[in-house]
Amino acid sequence: MFETLQTLPADAILGIMMLYRADSDPNRVDLSVGVYQDDAGRTPVLECVKRAEAAIFAEQDTKTYVAIAGNAGFNRGAEELLYGSNHPAIEEGRVATIQAPGGSGALSVAGHLIARARPGARVYLSDPSWPNHLPLLKLAGLTIEQYPYYDYAAHGIRFEAMLAALEKVEAGESVLLHGCCHNPCGADLSPEQWQALTALFERRGIVPFIDLAYQGLSESLDADAYGVRLMTERLPEVVVVSSCSKNLGLYRERVGTVSIVSRSRKERDAVFSNLSNVARGLYSMPPDHGAAIVERVLHTPELRSLWEQELGTMRQRINGLRQLLVDELRARDVPMDFSFIAKERGMFSFLGIEKEQVIELREKFHVYMVESSRINLAGINAKNSDYVADSIAAVLKR
Ligand SMILES: Cc1ncc(COP(=O)(O)O)c(C=O)c1O
Repeated sequence: MFETLQTLPADAILGIMMLYRADSDPNRVDLSVGVYQDDAGRTPVLECVKRAEAAIFAEQDTKTYVAIAGNAGFNRGAEELLYGSNHPAIEEGRVATIQAPGGSGALSVAGHLIARARPGARVYLSDPSWPNHLPLLKLAGLTIEQYPYYDYAAHGIRFEAMLAALEKVEAGESVLLHGCCHNPCGADLSPEQWQALTALFERRGIVPFIDLAYQGLSESLDADAYGVRLMTERLPEVVVVSSCSKNLGLYRERVGTVSIVSRSRKERDAVFSNLSNVARGLYSMPPDHGAAIVERVLHTPELRSLWEQELGTMRQRINGLRQLLVDELRARDVPMDFSFIAKERGMFSFLGIEKEQVIELREKFHVYMVESSRINLAGINAKNSDYVADSIAAVLKR
């Protein structure tokens, strides 16, 4: 059977991680990983999570199955985070939400649902997008197209080109948008751009497919859901996938949601039964522990406010590091304007330097980043910030 299989090339980011691990230089810096790190370089368990977990361990008296759709209290809390309380779509019974194994599991379930509703459907991804969007959605049976998004030379969104490309999308097809903190480029849509896209989608009957993997890490929980809430208010059908990996630090627990807004309560019921049926066919039941933690955090006032505090600390650290890197590079009089980094949001930005310079940073200075020059700002800390800026300045001035 297996002689037909070929060994596949290693994942580009994992390849860089392996090189970093094999490097024993004391100055080595890893800006390639996709997880949040604190100033000590750790990816900590949040205190609100530890407290919720302790209560669950003390009280839990069974490990029997929960439900195909997961934890109902978690799903309700997740809807409130996404749409705000009392959103008309929720009050009108038009929203179907199920718990899924992480944002990736949610993308997979949503992809299968779209493919079932519209066999062979085309989904449009931003150029560039998170590299796992393509395989996840392709495996679900969708046809993947791209629309222009990031302008590497101007360090901003190619909004006119994006609008022109999306004018050609057919009614009933979907366009994947990053809700906030675009991965990998960090360039987010402004409220005006969300409004223009909403008008275009309304006119053309396009269904938004919004991936909100970083809610709360750009401006605030509410501001980061601006696009989701606007589109849900104005458009009859919206697909939203979310993840608690980053904003609650629950990476390995695999917590996410698929939430679908449809035109009527009747269509919502059909969507919910198909979401459940897709989940049943893919993995049967989602893992419980992470969602049980989030349910407790969201519904226990002290834990909820502790979470918002901890999330605020992560957000301020990332945004502060953006400004710090810009200032440090400016102070070294580098021949490039990096001010765009302070305007971008989330953990990632492209430095916008040449591939040879990325390789030189790695081989000579032990500073690791993805070959596209994508860096994770959270990899910078008090101990390495001078060294990172010195190294970048050195390869730029050569
Ligand atoms: C844009 C985007 N979507 C979804 C995910 C999925 O995250 P997870 O499956 O770990 O929840 C990520 C993770 O990096 C991401 O960057």
